[in-house]
Amino acid sequence: MITRTLAVDPDHPADEPLLRAAELLRRGGLVAFPTETVYGLGANALDADAVARIFPAKGRPAHNPVIVHLASAEDARRLVSAWPRSADLLAERFWPGPLTLVLPRAPGVPDVVTAGGPTVAVRVPAHPVALALLRAAQLPVAAPSANRSTRLSPTRAEHVRRDLDGRVDLILDGGPTTGGIESTVLDLTARPPRLLRPGLVDLPSLEAVLGPVARPGAPRDASGPLRAPGMLARHYSPRTPLACLPDGAALVEELARAGARVGWVTLTPRPAPAGVLVVPLPPDPAGYAAQLYEALHHLDDADLERIVVDLPPESDEWMAVRDRLARASSS
Ligand code: TXA
Ligand code: MG
Repeated sequence: MITRTLAVDPDHPADEPLLRAAELLRRGGLVAFPTETVYGLGANALDADAVARIFPAKGRPAHNPVIVHLASAEDARRLVSAWPRSADLLAERFWPGPLTLVLPRAPGVPDVVTAGGPTVAVRVPAHPVALALLRAAQLPVAAPSANRSTRLSPTRAEHVRRDLDGRVDLILDGGPTTGGIESTVLDLTARPPRLLRPGLVDLPSLEAVLGPVARPGAPRDASGPLRAPGMLARHYSPRTPLACLPDGAALVEELARAGARVGWVTLTPRPAPAGVLVVPLPPDPAGYAAQLYEALHHLDDADLERIVVDLPPESDEWMAVRDRLARASSS
């Protein structure tokens, strides 16, 4: 398969590439597109054969369900069989945006979307290109992140091309994404609602709307049954071995002294031994998240032997970033 790339201005998406992409989706094709979190790998969510193509393209296990993207909350309601008041409150507050809601599925949703389970995950993305595509296609679009399974999620079209060239029909290049890490996944079928994956909408913001929310369990390995399916321990990993610790200075020093090529992700600039590639990230959770995968992609391309990351604080605001770092560093 030849993978085409079409550029789309994220501020003023032109019709032509979107109509091409929409037509491909209607014919059962795979289209990668930017969202405000990371790039997604989209297929018509109502076409089981089209969604099934996502799995080999990514190398994703079939027991991992995918998020369905919609143009509006009204469209999301058609895919679910119950829409609690909590969903209204959350949609009102956070959509379009990086929050995914898990709700009881409607009968028309194919099994391949839900991995055969009783629920479906829905979200209305905020990226102008994603919204324009959803409106042009007039379809619900099932889309996991547009990376090979277990690899870093893509925040640029180039990252998608590197992983999926020859495996998808089209990449819409809308430039770098702004949010930088994935959406928050919240299970509204649990009492109280349960956070399945921390993401760009943080726990304090959810609890301000909902009251208490249950925290995600510990990351699982791939062996047991997957109750919170996306929570495989190893995920979002660069190829370069990565170590996270509260203060990486001593380890960086030791590795550099031994002659190793080292990258160091810090919170704000820090002095480092000569030759160490330092990437300082902003000391606030949103600013840090926005640049995290970008930084890891960059370091992963720099032919290093080790990436060292200074862990951000243990507060709820940093939960999503710490979660991604823990997964990136587990082996
Ligand atoms: O920001 C995002 O969420 C990006 C963009 C493209 O929207 N998408 C994304 O998709 O990260 P993916 O497939 O890489 O991660 C989706 C997560 C997985 O952990 C999956 O197991 C979980 O959502 N999920 C999907 N449907 C679910 C369901 N019905 N019940 C529980 N978890 C579900
Ligand atoms: Mg993913």
